[in-house]
Amino acid sequence: MSSPKIDKYEYYAKSVQSPDVDAQYLQRTYKELKGKEPKILREDFCAAFALCCEWAKLDKDKLAIGIDLDEEPLAYGRKNYLSNLSADEQKRVTVLSQNVLSPEMPHADIIAALNFSYMGFKTRPLLKQYIENCHKTLNDGGLLVFDCFGGPASSEPNESESEYDDFSYFWDQDSFDPLTNEGMFYIHYQLKGQKKIEKVFTYDWRMWGIPELKDLMEEAGFKKIHFYWEGTDEEGEGDGNYAKVNQGEICDSWVAYVVGEK
Ligand SMILES: C[S@@+](CC[C@H](N)C(=O)[O-])C[C@H]1O[C@@H](n2cnc3c(N)ncnc32)[C@H](O)[C@@H]1O
Repeated sequence: MSSPKIDKYEYYAKSVQSPDVDAQYLQRTYKELKGKEPKILREDFCAAFALCCEWAKLDKDKLAIGIDLDEEPLAYGRKNYLSNLSADEQKRVTVLSQNVLSPEMPHADIIAALNFSYMGFKTRPLLKQYIENCHKTLNDGGLLVFDCFGGPASSEPNESESEYDDFSYFWDQDSFDPLTNEGMFYIHYQLKGQKKIEKVFTYDWRMWGIPELKDLMEEAGFKKIHFYWEGTDEEGEGDGNYAKVNQGEICDSWVAYVVGEK
């Protein structure tokens, strides 16, 4: 049986992303910390910039700027997400095909680097350069928002399956090296009754820990660092609700936001 062809961004959106929830989280967090409304969101590593599109929908003064190196997901986002917005919303979304390390980055109230994309920077000097660049280009009092994951389950190879109506999503941690904290990760999909499609997305990451991110943000000049920890549902699975905490929780795998305040 040969593997079927799929629209990989469609399945990624169905299984990985919740850009509407992310946009609301970012707006709420800024309001809680700063006591005012954020206006400009910069979505670094934006791929098909679904978050930018949701941000523009929140209010008529919201502006979003997406940055990604790769033209392919940007073109997908223009065709499939941007085109669904009203003419006014479309005018408030800009995308730039460039490196997030570029010295010429647009200024913003919030910079969001989500789905762990900064983990592609594998050395401390490189990640520091990126965080310093974010600090330089944030407006006064602005927020840099990273998500982070960890726990004992992410320090060993394992594969988990999540079932949806007509397909399964597999998150495959193929390797982990305790000497470098580097791991290879893959996303596979399987449509019901069809052959599994292997390695639809590949991530070669260094798993940065929360204390390392905090240290780097402080070194780059961020005044305060905040942590938001995901709650759990009745089955002990992550419930997508994040609460501000001063202490983490021991669990097999966890997801948290690390927020640096300029
Ligand atoms: C994990 S995907 C992004 C996912 C997206 N942020 C989301 O929330 O679903 C990582 C993206 O980062 C982009 N990327 C990697 N390194 C980059 C860099 N130095 N500058 C800009 N984009 C980069 C890749 O092209 C890819 O589209």
